[in-house]
Amino acid sequence: MRIIVIGSTGQLGTDLMKVLEHEHVTIGLTHKQVEVTDWDSCQIIKEHSPDVIINTAAFIKVDQCEEEPLKTFTVNAIGAKNIATISKEIEATTIFISTDYVFDGSKTEPYTEDDAPNPINTYGISKLAGELFTKQNPKHYIIRVASLFGAAGASGKGGNFIETMIAKAKKNEPISVVDDMWMSPTYTKDAASTIKKIIEAKLPFGTYHATNQGYCTWFQFAQEIFKITNLNPTLTPIKTNQLQMKAKRPQFSALKSIKLPKYGIKMRDWKEALYDYLIEKGHIAKSE
Ligand SMILES: NC(=O)c1ccc[n+]([C@@H]2O[C@H](COP(=O)([O-])OP(=O)(O)OC[C@H]3O[C@@H](n4cnc5c(N)ncnc54)[C@H](OP(=O)(O)O)[C@@H]3O)[C@@H](O)[C@H]2O)c1
Repeated sequence: MRIIVIGSTGQLGTDLMKVLEHEHVTIGLTHKQVEVTDWDSCQIIKEHSPDVIINTAAFIKVDQCEEEPLKTFTVNAIGAKNIATISKEIEATTIFISTDYVFDGSKTEPYTEDDAPNPINTYGISKLAGELFTKQNPKHYIIRVASLFGAAGASGKGGNFIETMIAKAKKNEPISVVDDMWMSPTYTKDAASTIKKIIEAKLPFGTYHATNQGYCTWFQFAQEIFKITNLNPTLTPIKTNQLQMKAKRPQFSALKSIKLPKYGIKMRDWKEALYDYLIEKGHIAKSE
């Protein structure tokens, strides 16, 4: 297959390139090479005659999205529309990477593909709009991921939670982390190989959740990071309302797939994935 990865140097994009490029003609497009908000710039896609276009491009700074709704919608929704429109024109499949933040967080068990989205912040609303635009190409997959961690770090956020925690612990900074917000931490390497399996198995078009199994609070996530790395900072659980955040966040946004297991695709537990990530980044040795 000929596969284009938009946002190829981003956190997820980097791992998508790694898992796809051995077996497929994989063309990475960086932000410098394509601006998804600009229709003319998107025409470059046609030159590569792709079968599949994976759109990872997004404006992901959730608090900043509240202050910049126009930019948020231009990238996350209009960008998605441009990519879906071009894909449809050339009869290619569009893959749009979406988020757990399309849900409102009122559930107490993981959201499945059957649950109705009801986003509560500008980022989530814009990503849901991106999903809807993506559906304008019948040949589409919407893949919802969550709380990503990958070796490249999110370029849009300037790193990831794990690296922030480890850096603070090494500087002996006291650390406070919210213990009332649940999510499914997800290794981009695992999300990328799931996306590869979905493409290769030619699963029915539609929406899929692709997160590591299980869930935890951000505080519990931090505890596990420090347990594995043998770091021992002063770690305090706090409540979300103690932080002054611009965007409301879903209190419970863990995801689970009820569709992928039917096709024999299962993602491992987030703790195992975290362990491998820490090895990949050299924070722990393989035998530890
Ligand atoms: N990170 C998370 O925890 C998380 C959680 C749920 C869902 N997601 C979704 O997962 C996807 C990937 O996230 P990520 O963590 O890999 O983010 P990332 O590291 O910021 O990667 C996004 C990539 O897209 C590029 N990009 C941004 N705006 C663009 C534009 N207007 N036109 C073309 N390219 C553009 C970025 O390039 P520059 O950096 O050079 O601008 C970057 O290479 C996103 O769709 C996001 O909504 C992420």
